[in-house]
Amino acid sequence: MNELDKEEITRVGPGTLMGNFMRQYWIPALKSTELIADAPPTRLKLFNEKLIAFRDSSGRPGIFNHECPHRCASLFLGRNEKDGLRCIYHGWKFDVNGQCLDMPNVSPNPNIQSKIKAKAYKVLERSGVIWVYLGESKTPPLFPEIEATLLPESELVVDFMLRKCNWLQALDGEIDTSHIGFLHWGCLDAQDIPEGHPLEHIKDAIPQYHVCETEWGTHYSAYRFINGEKEIYWRSANFLYPFWTQTPQGEFASNVNARAWVPLDDENTMFIYFRWTKRPNYQIPLKNGLAPGGNKPMPEYIDNSTDWLGRWRLKADASNDWLIDRYAQSSGLIFSGIDNIHLQDQAVTESMGAIANQLNEHLVSADLMIAKTRKVILKAARDFRDHGKTPPGLEHPEVFMGARSGYFITPPTITWGQAYKDQVQTAIRPKLDNK
Ligand code: FES
Ligand SMILES: [Fe+2]
Repeated sequence: MNELDKEEITRVGPGTLMGNFMRQYWIPALKSTELIADAPPTRLKLFNEKLIAFRDSSGRPGIFNHECPHRCASLFLGRNEKDGLRCIYHGWKFDVNGQCLDMPNVSPNPNIQSKIKAKAYKVLERSGVIWVYLGESKTPPLFPEIEATLLPESELVVDFMLRKCNWLQALDGEIDTSHIGFLHWGCLDAQDIPEGHPLEHIKDAIPQYHVCETEWGTHYSAYRFINGEKEIYWRSANFLYPFWTQTPQGEFASNVNARAWVPLDDENTMFIYFRWTKRPNYQIPLKNGLAPGGNKPMPEYIDNSTDWLGRWRLKADASNDWLIDRYAQSSGLIFSGIDNIHLQDQAVTESMGAIANQLNEHLVSADLMIAKTRKVILKAARDFRDHGKTPPGLEHPEVFMGARSGYFITPPTITWGQAYKDQVQTAIRPKLDNK
């Protein structure tokens, strides 16, 4: 990347290339459970815009720019009253669509009142998540058909976690397959993995890669010839516009996941992980009775605060060196010394600094997917800005349904195109909640 590329792909605030581009899509913003009817509003930040979210007495969610349209006092301080939010400064009240319902400090004038609106954004709620459309168009795009996000709430797990760094380095880490055998499972030797185990083949640390642009974004399949070259072991993953990934977390046929990397501002990103509960999870082989990637199934959260960036923060961060255990590291218990796979990713990407300096990188063949993905994102965003071209996937949200991740094994003669097509066609499809 050159300096212009770096600047344009990392900045996400109002008026920036990436900020404007990503605002064209539906954005997962909060868990439904974060908003309680008639409870005080919640602060949130998206694309460096300060917002508030609340749920009215009828259960409808609303997301506004936080400034009151009268004299800009923060509506975070507002009173969530009967079906509307009332500013505490002069008492103006707004419904979830931003329409002013009451202006008690002036003589009643329906003509003026009907024209006053808080800057409210379009919101929809599905699968236990509140989504927002921050674009300018009167008609928001169709909902993206990303399989994991369409699952009924009863079959879905959704986790939010704040990552304190720029969105791009967080996303890069997701499509960087060659770190798995080091950062996560560096202590695992080939003989530790039982024969027939799905991870048996990943100890070959130098796979070959098939990387390509697709209708939904980009795709890679890392592949290794196995069993005396009688078969190929593939591990496939995707980037989906504008900030989604799918990682190979199990067998391809039943692996339904989607991972959003939503920029809150230039230096903070919300990770939102949607996954199907019925996906069979493979067990990581134990070494000395311990899981080599760490033993904690989930990182520990600290309590939410009311700050703009106060939601879904993890206890381990730069201030405590991500709780690295040097004994675990040097004794070979955990290669990284950091106990939890997610935290390991969190540590390396946050350790790059708030915005990594990609100008200092030396990309190699193992980074092909990262290089390709950055290139297609920049091209799509510039095509939108410079030529008014509709961002990918908005007119045809069904293209996202072609994206799946996971591992599979094929005969050695089959090409990637055919292998992937066959897998997608025979994949197990959960019943979706296509409202
Ligand atoms: S600033 Fe909100 S009512 Fe005056
Ligand atoms: Fe990782």
